[in-house]
Amino acid sequence: MKIDILTLFPHMFDGFLNESIIKRAINNHKVEIQVHDIRDFSLDKHKKVDDYGFGGGQGMVLMPQPIFDAVEHYKQKNSKIILLTPQGKTYHQKQAYTLAKEEHLIFICGHYEGFDERIRTLAHLEISIGDYVLTGGELPSMVITDSIVRLLDGVITEESHLEDSFYENLLDYPVYTKPVNFRGMKVPEILLSGHHANIKKWRQEEQIKRTTIRRPDLLERDE
Ligand code: ADE
Repeated sequence: MKIDILTLFPHMFDGFLNESIIKRAINNHKVEIQVHDIRDFSLDKHKKVDDYGFGGGQGMVLMPQPIFDAVEHYKQKNSKIILLTPQGKTYHQKQAYTLAKEEHLIFICGHYEGFDERIRTLAHLEISIGDYVLTGGELPSMVITDSIVRLLDGVITEESHLEDSFYENLLDYPVYTKPVNFRGMKVPEILLSGHHANIKKWRQEEQIKRTTIRRPDLLERDE
């Protein structure tokens, strides 16, 4: 998979791309991720990419030209173009599974007060990572990239995905490690029994119990 990220703040991605599982996935050629500065596509001699909005209002608006030129530069036949915006469809694990099957993703990170409405016409998908407003699409693009890359073949063991929270719309079961008794809080007997069938059943029951108490909305979700 290849991911191109278009942003005005490329250095925000430095830590994200150079640590832990994402770094390993890049080094092992499971994914190629490139971050591009939208300013490089500005035609202005001062590299200006934004201007005042017509009709008045607060703040600066991203101009269409640099974004159109950048997308047209990186776009291939198989590209899926994603615009990050709080007005997009709310992101869920199901969508991570779907996007993990794509060959090429291009993320457009908006910033400032907003982007020119015509930029929307470039996107196949508009995604929000939740009902709150961030300063830009950079963190959302990292969140989505992270959730996708961990699903790619060979990045983490496949069994771990099957045990993820949200797999089949259920939260994960509780896990314990040593010691068996920590400050009076004991590991459930069943996990020490060595009886795999009973452990499996207990875990499934715990998933349903947890989801019912913490996230009953998930049990009704049909996507
Ligand atoms: N840009 C600003 N806030 C956002 C959000 N919640 N999701 C996606 N992009 C955003």
